[in-house]
This record gives sequence, C-alpha cells and structure tokens, in this order.
Amino acid sequence: MRLTFTIQRFNPEIDSTAHPEEFRLEVGRGMTVLDALIRIKNECDGSLALRYSCRSAICGSCAMTINGSEKLACRTSLRNEVERYGHISVEPLRNLPVIKDLVVDMASFWEKIRDVHPWLVTAAPPSRGGVAARSQGRRDQSNPQFHNVDACIMCGACVAACTVHEVSKGFAGPAALAKADRFLSDPREAPSATRARLSALQAEHGIWDCTRCNFCVEVCPKDVKPMEAIIRLRRASLQRGLSTTGGARHVLGFTDLIEQQGRLNEAIMPLKVVGFSPRGLWHILPLGIKMLLKGKIPYPFGQALPGLSHVQALIRRARRGIPQV
Ligand code: SF4
Ligand code: SF4
Ligand code: FES
Repeated sequence: MRLTFTIQRFNPEIDSTAHPEEFRLEVGRGMTVLDALIRIKNECDGSLALRYSCRSAICGSCAMTINGSEKLACRTSLRNEVERYGHISVEPLRNLPVIKDLVVDMASFWEKIRDVHPWLVTAAPPSRGGVAARSQGRRDQSNPQFHNVDACIMCGACVAACTVHEVSKGFAGPAALAKADRFLSDPREAPSATRARLSALQAEHGIWDCTRCNFCVEVCPKDVKPMEAIIRLRRASLQRGLSTTGGARHVLGFTDLIEQQGRLNEAIMPLKVVGFSPRGLWHILPLGIKMLLKGKIPYPFGQALPGLSHVQALIRRARRGIPQV
C-alpha cells in the first residue's frame, strides 16, 4: 500500500514558520507510524528530525501529534490511523517549543517535574553506613498503592494535550502533579512531608488550576489518569484543612449550598468563593451583572428543593466515607 504522509517541518536555521511537507512511501501491514518515519528519514530526507529510542512504548521519547491527537509513534498502527482518518498527518507535540521538525524542547516539562520534588521524604534518616532498605508494606486491594501513577514514562503527551497548559504555561501540568500524587500514596513518606508537598501545590498554577477537561486521561499511553491523581491531591488537601484557595473554597461552598438548599445558588456562590473581600467582589461584579441580566441568578434566599433530606443523607454518607487526617 502506498501512503502519503503529511509531516510538519521546521528548521529554525532556514524557516520563519513551520510548514507541511508530503512524502509518499510504500508501507507494509503491521508497520507503526515510527517505522514509517524512520524509513522516510532513511530513504527520502535524512534531515527529518525526530526523537525515538526503545521503539516499544517504554522510553516515552516518540510522543507526537498524529492525526490531531497526542500518541506514541512507536505504538500507533499505520493501518488503524488510515482506517480511521483516511490519511496520516504528523506534527510535533503541541504547546511545547519546537526545536526542529518533530522534536520539541522538554526543558519546561522536566523543570515542573523537579518542582514537585519527585523524591521520597521519610521520617527517619537512612541508617549509618549505608542507605537502609525501606519496605513499602504489603500491597492489598484496600491500599492500591500509586494508582498506576508509577507507570508514567514521561512522554509529555498529557502536557501537550492539557487545555490549561495551552493558555497558562506556568501550570504545573498533569505529569508533574501525577508524580506528586505518587509520593502522597507512598506509605514511607513522612506525614509532615506530605503536608508540605500539598501546601506547595495550593499556590497559583497548582492543583486547583486544573479544569478537569479529561484530555490528559484520554491521551496517556500508560493509563496513568493524571486528572484522577489531581483529584486525589485535592481531596487530600481538603482533608488536611488546606482550604484557603479559591478552588478549595469553590468545592466546599458548592457542597454547602447543595446540602443546605439542594441546588447551586449562583447569588451566594461568589460570596463562598471570594468571601466579603471588596477587591474580590469588585473583580467578579461584571460577570455577576451579566448573569443577573440573563436571569441566571436566583433569589438568594429561595426555597429548598423537594427531596432535600435525601440529598443531605447522601452528602452525610459520602462524608463518612472520607477519612479525616
Ligand atoms: S484534566 Fe486538568 S490536568 Fe488534565 S488535561 Fe485537563 S486541565 Fe490539564
Ligand atoms: S502521565 Fe501519561 S501522558 Fe503524561 S507523561 Fe506520563 S505517560 Fe506520558
Ligand atoms: S520509541 Fe520509546 S516510547 Fe516510542
């Protein structure tokens, strides 16, 4: 089968912008996108830049945008792509600076991983004369340690797909936050270290910036589910009383309103989130006026919905299921 590949090219030494370039290649059954790219490099244009190593979905270096979504080229079947999209287009990972062609600069990615201190902080120092072995304890079903977060191969696909990272480059991002969650789940970490870790993640660009769009979960080739890791970090923060950020107050205020009235009350919600701070209220005033004019703000002291006692029972039950730390 002869296929046309549209590959985004960019050479900073000669190009002012990136441009697509087409290559025709005879491909066989069972080939991956990476197999085809290597052949294009070897047979058509040796200047094509791409990154790869293991060819087995282990090293994480061949992540790129294939037919519009982030994938590992070495585990993406040409046949499946053609059957689904009718063509093959390959671009570098989005929202990361391009060094050349399909190679992106991962420096900011690694910096964010370093920022979450991806190492274990234990209560007791290692024994004298060597590093003591520290058992993680027995894995059982009630303690699903690490939630598969340790399967991350640092490919960067989730960061490239992240809708918050797209508009806010300072956001810690799904991979780094999932890495932080891995240490939260480690029984060897000292409680004080966990608290310090969570406190640091309350800042701007931390866990509360995630919009829960789920794209990081969809593109992750290792089923790490970074968004779920972020939700665990949020839950752990609230359990430890770390609730001063707008995001945390939003969650708590939302739950309070549902418990009191059985529904969200948009007239009271802003007060729950920004409090009575004149500056904060001034900031959200234009949005409030727009919502009022569109009839989106109910009477603040409206009647509770019928069946409220059932809702309250559900909330009480959910609270009982969450251990306090
Ligand atoms: S769920 Fe959160 S971290 Fe994941 S892609 Fe969306 S905004 Fe980014
Ligand atoms: S979480 Fe998944 S997508 Fe993100 S870097 Fe790790 S393996 Fe790649
Ligand atoms: S080449 Fe290693 S993950 Fe694809």
